[in-house]
Amino acid sequence: MDPFVKNLKIGFLGAGNMTQTIVKGWLEQQVLPANHVYCTNRSEAKLQKFVDQTGINGMSSNEELIDVCDVVILAMKPQDLLLAVEEVQPCFKPDQVILSLAAGIPIRAIQKNLNASVRIARLMPNTPLKIGEGVMGYATSKEAEDLKALIESLFNPIALTVEANEGETFEALTVGAASGVGFVFELMIYWQEWLEEHNFEPQVAREMTVQTFLGAAMLAQKEESTQLEQLLAKVTSKKGVTAAGLQSMRELEIERGLRYSFEKAVMRDKELAK
Ligand SMILES: NC(=O)c1ccc[n+]([C@@H]2O[C@H](COP(=O)([O-])OP(=O)(O)OC[C@H]3O[C@@H](n4cnc5c(N)ncnc54)[C@H](OP(=O)(O)O)[C@@H]3O)[C@@H](O)[C@H]2O)c1
Repeated sequence: MDPFVKNLKIGFLGAGNMTQTIVKGWLEQQVLPANHVYCTNRSEAKLQKFVDQTGINGMSSNEELIDVCDVVILAMKPQDLLLAVEEVQPCFKPDQVILSLAAGIPIRAIQKNLNASVRIARLMPNTPLKIGEGVMGYATSKEAEDLKALIESLFNPIALTVEANEGETFEALTVGAASGVGFVFELMIYWQEWLEEHNFEPQVAREMTVQTFLGAAMLAQKEESTQLEQLLAKVTSKKGVTAAGLQSMRELEIERGLRYSFEKAVMRDKELAK
C-alpha cells in the first residue's frame, strides 16, 4: 500500500457506475482500505447495496462526507454537479482536494463556486477501467500542480494514468481515450457484420472480431519498443492480400474520415464545456 495514500480519507459524492468501478479497483489492488472510503448517493437503496458489497462507509449527507474526507470526488452526472457543489459550498475546508469526474465541466467552472484555496483536478476515465484496462486522464489547475503525485498514486495501480493540460490536449484525451472506446466498437461492428455476410454465425463472427482486435492490441503492447508502422510492415507482404486491402484503405482516405470524426467529437466537447 502506497504510504502516501493509505492514510487518506477519500469520499465520493455519487455511488454510480464510475464510483463503483474505481472503488472496486482500489479494493482489489489494495490501494487503500475500505474503511478509508466514504460515499453518498441521492437515492439511498443504491448506496446501501454498494456499502453492503464493499464495506466502505455510507454517509447520509454530502455535508457530512465533506467534513470527514481529505479528498472529495465529484461523481455525479455533469448536469447535477454545479448545483450539488453550490449547495455544499460552505462545507469545503481550505486545502481540501476536489477531483471531478464530470465530463465537459472545466476546472474554472467548479472553482467559481468554491473557496479559492480548495485544490481541484479533473479526471477523465474510460470504461475499460471496469476490467483493469482503462485510461485515467487528468488535468490540474496551475495552483494545484502538487496534486499530480496524489493522482498518480491513486490511479496508477488501476489504470494507465495520463496527464493532459486543460484545453486542446484534454479534449484530445477525451475523444481519443474515452469516446475512442466507442469508435473502436463501431469498427468492430463493421468487422463482425462483414464476417456474418460471409457465412459466419454471429457468435463466431463476434468472437473472431474481438480476438483480432484483442490480439493486435496485445501484440502492440507486448512489443512496446516496436513502432506500430513496423508491426504493420511485419503482417504485410509485398503485393500480398493485406497490402491490397491497405492500399484500398489509403485510397479511400479512411484516416481523413477518422480525423474528421475526431474533430467533430472535439467540437461537441467544446460546446458542452460552454
Ligand atoms: N461512466 C463512464 O464511462 C464515464 C466516463 C467518463 C466520465 N464519466 C463521468 O463520471 C461521472 C459519473 O458517471 P456515472 O456513469 O458513474 O453516472 P451514474 O451511474 O449516473 O452515477 C451518478 C450518481 O450520482 C448520484 N447523484 C446525483 N446527484 C447527487 C448529489 N447531489 N449527491 C450525491 N449523489 C448524487 C446519482 O444518484 P441516483 O441513484 O439518485 O441517480 C447516481 O447514482 C459523470 O460526471 C460522468 O461524466 C463517466
